[in-house]
Amino acid sequence: MGSCSQEKEKQMVDLFAFSRAVISGKIEMGRFFLAPCLVLLAVLLLGSGADALQVIGGSVTVVQGDTAILPCKLRLIDSTEDLTQITWQKRTREKPSNDNFITVGPSQEPQFVHRRDDRFKYIGNFNDKNGTLQLSNVALKDEGSYTCIFTLFPGGTKKTEIPLKVTVPPFTSVMDNLPTLGTEEVLFVTCTAAGSRPPAEVRWLTGVLGDKLRTTTNYIHYGNGTTTTVSSLFGVPTREINGHQVQCVISSHAISTEETLPFIIQVYFSPTEVNMKAISGHSFECVTEANPNANFTWSRYGQSLLPSVVKVEGAKLQVLSLTSDLNGLYQCEASNTYGRKYGQLYVHVASEACSAAWALFGVLLSLNVIGAAAWCFHKSGHFQRCLEESTSIYSMCSIKCCSPDIKDQYHDHMQKR
Ligand SMILES: *[C@@H]1O[C@H](CO)[C@@H](O)[C@H](O)[C@H]1NC(C)=O
Ligand SMILES: *[C@@H]1O[C@H](CO)[C@@H](O)[C@H](O)[C@H]1NC(C)=O
Repeated sequence: MGSCSQEKEKQMVDLFAFSRAVISGKIEMGRFFLAPCLVLLAVLLLGSGADALQVIGGSVTVVQGDTAILPCKLRLIDSTEDLTQITWQKRTREKPSNDNFITVGPSQEPQFVHRRDDRFKYIGNFNDKNGTLQLSNVALKDEGSYTCIFTLFPGGTKKTEIPLKVTVPPFTSVMDNLPTLGTEEVLFVTCTAAGSRPPAEVRWLTGVLGDKLRTTTNYIHYGNGTTTTVSSLFGVPTREINGHQVQCVISSHAISTEETLPFIIQVYFSPTEVNMKAISGHSFECVTEANPNANFTWSRYGQSLLPSVVKVEGAKLQVLSLTSDLNGLYQCEASNTYGRKYGQLYVHVASEACSAAWALFGVLLSLNVIGAAAWCFHKSGHFQRCLEESTSIYSMCSIKCCSPDIKDQYHDHMQKR
């Protein structure tokens, strides 16, 4: 906005202006920003008695691909001048020289001076001295300055310049760098706002993780005037940080509201040690931690098939009935894309003599802790305590029934491996 004294010196043409913004097809009327000058002008005009010629223009901002209205209207107050032609000139990124490109005569049929471009449509009204143009499917190359010229007889020409700004909303994305467990700082995730005009700002909301994370932001500027903003989030990939949510926030003049992309930090790791858990007297579950979650496969040493009295569902193994067919060492494999670990379950169904006390004896082992696993035999009544004391070995049989030959069988098994 110029000062009043500057405006006075200008052609009357420019005295009345309003800004106009066309964003996402929505027209926002701007404010008259020269109100104080207009009062002064009115006084001047009354004094001089001159014709009051005014061209209404404005400045236009449009999102790439949308339709822009280039407003232009001549106000002829108390004038005998005749309008003979409306001419449009443009100076754009594509063609930086100011060239005539459309003329409109009393026939109202627009003529293209050079190449025809059907994206331009004359939507004004010649008799109304309205030169308004519409430009659809606006591209970056259209950005520039458009001049609307009224040729009057005998007065000459009156014109106004309409700047056209083209914005390009960014393409936004977050990309997981798939960090695996470790103790050194690594890249967790990048958030990208690509091809934005004007450049987009990208920031992270990290909540409680604030001081555990570090961010960097880079801008890549392209020849066509767009910019790609890439913001990276770094941290130490610990188990504690796994599963925390952060947010990438993107803001730009090209988008009306901020865009928020939530992201859950994932630290990937192979299955940790595999433990056996007794769910009930007849069911066992293979327990581990892994990211992504582990898949479980049960097998039995020395046998290609599991016995028919065993039902397997994911991590769970269920014994349907107690027969001596069950006897043996079972293995549970926990695996994901980062690795695999094994857990073992030793099952022994005691002899008929013992079956009154219904004897199922399970030895559950994690491969990791075989060396450390201590034997733990308890009477069935103490099963729960046994479970708490050692997740590795469970006994569901009285020591009298089971202990000697189970021990031997187990050791045989372990020695053969
Ligand atoms: C000029 O024409 C356009 C398109 O028809 C219209 O929207 C606008 O209101 C007109 N301008 C004036 C000042 O009458
Ligand atoms: C701008 O240039 C970049 C790099 O050449 C390109 O990827 C992008 O699509 C262009 N954007 C527009 C709106 O033309």
